Amino acid sequence: MDDRPIGMFDSGFGGLTVARALIDLLPCEDLVYLGDTARYPYGPRSLDEVREFASQITHKLVEENAVKLVVVACNTATAAALDTLRYQFDVPLVGVIDPGVRALLSVTETGRVGVIGTVGTIGSGAYQRAVGRRRSLTQTGRPVDLTCAACPGLVELVERGETSGDAALVLVERLLAPVRAAGVDSLLLGCTHYPYLARIIGEVMGPDVVLVSSADETAFEVRGILSEAGLRSRTTSAGSQRWISSGEASAFVRLGQHLFGPELDQAEHWGPPLVCKGERQ
Ligand code: DGL
Repeated sequence: MDDRPIGMFDSGFGGLTVARALIDLLPCEDLVYLGDTARYPYGPRSLDEVREFASQITHKLVEENAVKLVVVACNTATAAALDTLRYQFDVPLVGVIDPGVRALLSVTETGRVGVIGTVGTIGSGAYQRAVGRRRSLTQTGRPVDLTCAACPGLVELVERGETSGDAALVLVERLLAPVRAAGVDSLLLGCTHYPYLARIIGEVMGPDVVLVSSADETAFEVRGILSEAGLRSRTTSAGSQRWISSGEASAFVRLGQHLFGPELDQAEHWGPPLVCKGERQ
């Protein structure tokens, strides 16, 4: 039994979709969430830069907040940094890519599946590799035909709180053209921000396409790891949440309440260390 909090981070608000799933599944666990809103979006940045940010944040969560496990609630950071973080830190680390692929392959019937994500995530090839690790087969043994599409601009819509409206619809229609043309029967929202756009994405893809988010499957993975390692909280009362933002705390609360709910009523500011080009921490 271990009453230390779970740590979680994202470039901004997208990880709140994973936080919600985790709180629902493990309501007695304390959570420390860090949104790196001062440096979002991660998608267009180099994988090296995202790896550096992820390392700084994990260091803060582990060293200053004594978390017992870290959820990398961002596909771009998972693609760029999960392997490195596992090497750098002693706590268990959970990313969102493998859980997402598991969820996707469990729902598809035809095997024609799509993944949408940031330029960084899709360009990294992480999803193609993750599908390959499952021998490119669905749960029913059918071969997987994977179509990936990068969707620059969608994260910015969410971070501005523009989760509906004509401008969002036009952009989503244009960006989803490749997965629509591929005739996928299920589409993984391979960016934790995208569930906030699920209504529009669903409208564009049509009622026959199942939208899959990695949030629930990631929460199940966290529960499995904590249970197996004897790290579940002893308490039976509701856990607490602590919210940290590298951007302005009041702005984080404002949009956080809109996206997550009224319980996100205060946030702390964190100023990440400045790293000069070429300098390692
Ligand atoms: N939520 C992050 C992800 O899952 C968004 C990345 C970004 O900031 O561009 O990829």
